[in-house]
Amino acid sequence: KVYDCCLVHLPKVHNRAGNITTLENNVNVPFDVKRVYYLYDVPGGADRGGHSHIELQQFIVALSGAFDVLIDDGVNKKVVHLDRPYFGLHIVPGIWRELINFSSGAVCLVLASHPYSEADYIRTYDKFKQLRGFS
Ligand code: TYD
Repeated sequence: KVYDCCLVHLPKVHNRAGNITTLENNVNVPFDVKRVYYLYDVPGGADRGGHSHIELQQFIVALSGAFDVLIDDGVNKKVVHLDRPYFGLHIVPGIWRELINFSSGAVCLVLASHPYSEADYIRTYDKFKQLRGFS
């Protein structure tokens, strides 16, 4: 399942006045985007995430700065370093994730497949392991 979480190389239109990267539903973002949010002003040493989702798919881009995304399917773990605005990480449902090591000024863009729903969150690692069948 961790191996279903792909790093997507996004298109970049480059000229001397800078770059443009586009995100399009079902073209380079592999689902229909229903919600967009971004994390910023993350204090040094703070960690975010620390949960999993039942149905939600997400697509994460480091718009500015850098951070690490730890992804864990209950068996395999992987750490993905995001530090370029032309790479996106697709996170499939059922993955425990932690966002760590934010650089100062980092902006983390998140595209989500559903509106916000607290009912879709699994907020403890024990519950996550239980649902994945490893209790
Ligand atoms: P959460 O997803 O737990 O943050 P993170 O994974 O980045 O640490 O969200 C933190 C709080 O923000 C949560 O209690 C409710 C609120 N929230 C919304 O109201 N809408 C949203 O779309 C998101 C992502 C969070």
